[in-house]
Amino acid sequence: MILVTGSAGFIGSNFVLDWLAQSDEPVISLDNLTYAGNRANLANLDGDARHTFVHGDIGDSVLVAELLQRHTPRAVVNFAAESHVDRSIHGPEDFIQTNIVGTFRLLEAVRAHWNGLTGDDKADFRFLHVSTDEVYGSLAKDEPAFTETHRYEPNSPYSASKAASDHLVRAYHHTYGLPVLTTNCSNNYGPFHFPEKLIPLMIVNALADKSLPVYGDGMQIRDWLYVKDHCSAIRRVLKAGRTGEVYNIGGWNEMPNIEIVKTVCSLLDELRPRADSKPYIEQITYVADRLGHDRRYAIDASKIERELGWRPAETFATGIRKTVQWYLENEAWVSTVQSGAYRDWVETNYSQRA
Ligand code: NAD
Ligand code: TYD
Repeated sequence: MILVTGSAGFIGSNFVLDWLAQSDEPVISLDNLTYAGNRANLANLDGDARHTFVHGDIGDSVLVAELLQRHTPRAVVNFAAESHVDRSIHGPEDFIQTNIVGTFRLLEAVRAHWNGLTGDDKADFRFLHVSTDEVYGSLAKDEPAFTETHRYEPNSPYSASKAASDHLVRAYHHTYGLPVLTTNCSNNYGPFHFPEKLIPLMIVNALADKSLPVYGDGMQIRDWLYVKDHCSAIRRVLKAGRTGEVYNIGGWNEMPNIEIVKTVCSLLDELRPRADSKPYIEQITYVADRLGHDRRYAIDASKIERELGWRPAETFATGIRKTVQWYLENEAWVSTVQSGAYRDWVETNYSQRA
């Protein structure tokens, strides 16, 4: 079996659902259910004997040690993190606690467990750390895309905390020989994406007749990958990646934010036209920029293609259509996650943007 942390969040839940759709290898889910974690994301697995959900913190060394001892997973896949840049700007503390201290404690528990293994169990064990392209910093317009050897230049408290966790993972391999794998992926989108991030925020705001807040000039560029492609890449790295190696994962799809927002608007025009028949782009509002906003991220995903034969299955056109359709079909999920705390966050982040 495998232990998956952060499994009630956006990517973690997609990963667990896809894993159990494709294999019968059991999963232990560990998640402390922050605002971003939602048990409902895994509701399809209720009653499934292959899945065990544990409500707990990756920084709880006693709990993690006990889980490792009891279940002896062959791998740990670490998704657990605070993940939203804007929240890290308003309050970095939780990012330091989970992304740095939490990852450190998890590594310590895993190291102690791995030290006690022998033979094939020890040789085959893996710790896969899921990270982001944001650790590499911001690219100028014509600079080549990030490769795995690009210098670390994190610019937000979020990316700095992820960079620190990546360094710890690397050090546990170099110093203790822990068999680690690290993946650095670009922006994901798809089902169960919490509506604080660009794409789901635009979908839910559009449908609620609210403004679509584009930061700055909207010309910041990200590479976008459909979440299920990220999950397939992680499965591939877990299976065949070389320990101690880093694999960049991306969609070969750089787009400026304003193009993303316009694409979402035109899909909604087609699939759920406004009552007044006007186009959703009329709801776009340019608002004050994010502090320290990175201008461009781009991933060179040729290493994972060359060494492991992985490429994304979805194009942006196919992935974004599936995503918009999912939100239209899952309005109950959307209203559940828009709790009072969510509304407080929207007020905090947007009320003071001119
Ligand atoms: P998310 O915020 O949707 O989910 C994070 C999950 O981790 C939540 O379920 C939360 O409850 C859980 N969690 C937080 N702190 C925890 C703790 N201390 N102990 C246990 N569980 C905890 O994030 P996501 O978008 O699914 O991202 C998952 C991982 O992938 C993160 O490590 C993130 O840095 C990385 N990543 C995300 C993207 C993206 O576009 N979303 C891109 C590249 C990498
Ligand atoms: P986000 O989804 O927060 O991901 P990240 O900051 O990790 O890339 O934001 C994606 C891009 O969209 C980023 O350049 C910021 C921008 N953005 C907006 O323009 N408006 C918004 O309301 C949000 C949440 C993001």
